[in-house]
Amino acid sequence: MSPSVDKKTQPGARGIPQGPSADGVWVNLNPVPGLVIANVPVPDGQCTCVVVQGGRMSWVGPQAQVPAEYQALRRWDAHGALATPGLVDCHTHLVYGGQRANEFAMRLAGATYEEVAKAGGGIVSSVKATREASEDELFALAAPRLQALLDEGVCAIEIKSGYGLALEHERKQLRVARRLGTAFGVIVRTTFLGAHALPPEYAGRSQDYTDLVCNEMLPALAAEGLVDAVDVFCERIAFTLAETEQVFQAAQKLGIPVKLHAEQLSDMGGAALAARYGALSCDHIEHLSQDGIAAMKAAGTVAVLLPGACYTLRDTHLPPIAQLREAGVPMAVSTDHNPGTSPALSLLLMANMACTLFRLTVPEALAGITTHAARALGLQDTHGLIAAGRPANFVLWPLSEPAELAYWYGHKPACTIVRQGCVAADGLGIDLPHGGRNGI
Ligand code: NIG
Ligand code: FE
Repeated sequence: MSPSVDKKTQPGARGIPQGPSADGVWVNLNPVPGLVIANVPVPDGQCTCVVVQGGRMSWVGPQAQVPAEYQALRRWDAHGALATPGLVDCHTHLVYGGQRANEFAMRLAGATYEEVAKAGGGIVSSVKATREASEDELFALAAPRLQALLDEGVCAIEIKSGYGLALEHERKQLRVARRLGTAFGVIVRTTFLGAHALPPEYAGRSQDYTDLVCNEMLPALAAEGLVDAVDVFCERIAFTLAETEQVFQAAQKLGIPVKLHAEQLSDMGGAALAARYGALSCDHIEHLSQDGIAAMKAAGTVAVLLPGACYTLRDTHLPPIAQLREAGVPMAVSTDHNPGTSPALSLLLMANMACTLFRLTVPEALAGITTHAARALGLQDTHGLIAAGRPANFVLWPLSEPAELAYWYGHKPACTIVRQGCVAADGLGIDLPHGGRNGI
């Protein structure tokens, strides 16, 4: 990130938009096919123009046909840069204390994820560190992680709780998530994951803890406006199908949408259950059955693929991509950023892994980190597409073809980012007097 951008994107004391207004006529964009809806069709070989007014995209189409009313607006020349909608990271556990590199080392020495968890490591060790941290400390720890994702063009992100596992600590995590959204001018969707693991003080009392989640924690946090969705880790080492349903019922009573960590290590039938509750998404799904796929298709539930977790755990049991494709279930791709199984801070790297490890096509991977990820958060009407009527969220890349977005890895392209109507970064130098330093 350049120093000038750094100044612009400093978290504002009043939690205000970051960067100068992006209002004006953005000319000479080259949007990735499938990720743009034009008001007037753009002929092949011609560049696209996006008009931004009041922070929203008001018109998308060929330059030659920009309506007269917009002609006098400020002009931003993208010089033919590849354009995508703002990226969406739809599954993260970004707010936590400590880190777990020791478990990475344990697994290298032969221990499995389940063995690490049983030995007192795993989620519960992050719970200890998260409980010990203050809200300000958690904010300070999460801020640079969020910045790393934002620098790559993320414009909307989901952040889960689930490392507090007690009302005050879950509240702390969710409050930090909300504060991050305000301070960084990014859309944050919060997900309450109180049913992530059994806290040590409830050992052997799973039902009591589930009751606490449903009867006290969720209603209190929802009343404070901290919960956009509810999630459960439904697994042998976490919560049963019946406990998961109990949490879903509590969410349904409050009118809050659900999602699920489903069939990661075994087929629990969680996806079919989640689909019955109209889940926004089922995530992980390495062991998803054909019945689960059919139920998700019928419910319009998004399949969220998390190749970073598969990679870190060296899981060889891959999600049933061919069957999901065949059934027409929308597939999203996310970082699953968390300290245990996916300490990943690059959504583009996840797109690369989704292609290389899971055999997604490039268009699938790119829809997975934009359009379908937005749907997994219920943001399908506002995010994930360049289209009129939406808040202005788009990224201009110093790249010449869409496949490059999934091809390079270990390299953050210097992009220009319009986030929520503001120019949050200008790697292409579009705002410079000579109109772009990259010669594109
Ligand atoms: O999404 N699967 C459960 N939850 C996280 C892992 C959390 C952790 O190990 O801290 C996941 O992979
Ligand atoms: Fe997760």
